[in-house]
Amino acid sequence: PTAVIVFLILGYLCGTIAFGLILTKLFGLGDLRSIGSGNIGATNVLRTGNKKVAAMTLLGDLLKATVPIWVAWKWGAPAAAAAGFGAFLGHLFPIWLGFKGGKGVATYIGVLLGFAPIGVLVFAAAWLGMAKIFRYSSLAALTATLLVPMVYLIIGNSMAAALTTVLTVLVYLKHIPNIRRLLAGTESRIGSKG
Ligand code: G3P
Repeated sequence: PTAVIVFLILGYLCGTIAFGLILTKLFGLGDLRSIGSGNIGATNVLRTGNKKVAAMTLLGDLLKATVPIWVAWKWGAPAAAAAGFGAFLGHLFPIWLGFKGGKGVATYIGVLLGFAPIGVLVFAAAWLGMAKIFRYSSLAALTATLLVPMVYLIIGNSMAAALTTVLTVLVYLKHIPNIRRLLAGTESRIGSKG
């Protein structure tokens, strides 16, 4: 139980590193909060027009969950799950940003990679397929995060299924504005400045 608490906190602290904000500032791309959706994630960084910085944001927000999980595995699966959950919470609710963080998609992939990597394949296939057809980052993420826990359940990884179910619920809650825009037909497509 001590390891679980320690890694929940360590994971949280890693998760609070907002790569989108840091990198856009570093590369002089303007105030991410006043661009597009105002979100701090890679999708919104892409709206600055800089693909490289968007890719770096995706990687940073992803690895900040994966790395603490990899370290935590030495203390067992519950510690690893705690590290991932902590990092996810840190990204969504960073103390440094008044608890107003991102929507968790990149960090979700990072949790999959660290905890049960088969989920990354499921996520990637669903996300890429949906993105190619509809060009909405949000819809692609909502589909992918719905499928991942189901696949873990089907293959019998109940711990990964339980963990990702909780993460998926949080992803959906954070995407309520996106869901509203999707239903209204006003969601911006990938790469468009909207
Ligand atoms: O990765 C987050 C994505 O699903 C939505 O981002 O900026 O379009 O709200 P955004």
